[in-house]
Amino acid sequence: MNQKIYVNGKIVPRQEALVDIEDRGFQFADGVYEVIAVYQGKPFKLREHLERLVFSAAELEISCPGIAELQEEVEGYLTSIGLGAEDASIYIQLTRGVCPRTHAYPDGLDSILIMKAGSLKSRPEEYYQSGVKIITRPDERWSRCYIKSIALLPNVMAKKAAERARAYEAVMHRDGFVTEGSSSNLFLVEEGSLITPPATNYILNGITRQTVIQDIAPELGLEIREQSISLDRLFRAEEVFLTGTTTEIMPVVRIDENEVGRGLVGEITGRISETYRGLTRA
Ligand code: PDD
Repeated sequence: MNQKIYVNGKIVPRQEALVDIEDRGFQFADGVYEVIAVYQGKPFKLREHLERLVFSAAELEISCPGIAELQEEVEGYLTSIGLGAEDASIYIQLTRGVCPRTHAYPDGLDSILIMKAGSLKSRPEEYYQSGVKIITRPDERWSRCYIKSIALLPNVMAKKAAERARAYEAVMHRDGFVTEGSSSNLFLVEEGSLITPPATNYILNGITRQTVIQDIAPELGLEIREQSISLDRLFRAEEVFLTGTTTEIMPVVRIDENEVGRGLVGEITGRISETYRGLTRA
């Protein structure tokens, strides 16, 4: 993969893409981001991702270019690095800007926009065929999880705990109810219907989640309910799956030490996964 980085309108070699030590992203995690999958050269749901970036920035009063300008910059960047009809991923980050360290940020800072293309790092096919294990962890995050902030330490610690437990993901819970994975959303299947936690301030409203709700469930004629999911209810689910840009539709066959269903990838999960592949690899 071509190591050319976009930094505030310039494309520079990786070694020249440097962060100022007083960038507020570096000192305070004062920034927002997006991860976008590119299938055969085409960014999937680009507009939705850029809308969420603009929304996250607005919630934190970080200055941000408009959607049309962002779209032009993303497309220009992909062209300039010579991305053809390949699969890739794009990481976009917007930090508030650079100033001497102080909690209350000065008004009118010039934000810093960076983009880095990488490989899509598809998960092993076996994960999708056989399903994965997840663990449950207390949700230790703040109460504005709907913002895609780069302040991800609780997510980082949860994912590391999953890795240590040889699990794919850590699914978090708050007051006995499931919120989401460290970098994914969660769905379960109950009597043939899809259930997922509502998009409150305690979860990130994933673009993949929205694709399942708005595009895939109607296409497959599946009923979908946005409802709170207690841990008990999660453990009783017939099928469970995770959604995310890099996770795609990931079947879950084990939660902590318990099997989901009969420990096999569920039939409805399989259909959703297949439909998602059709959408992304059309
Ligand atoms: N994470 N929830 C959290 C906390 C996430 O970080 C993500 C995505 C999702 C799924 O959102 P989407 O479907 O829009 O990718 C849910 C990205 C991929 C990441 O941090 O790498």
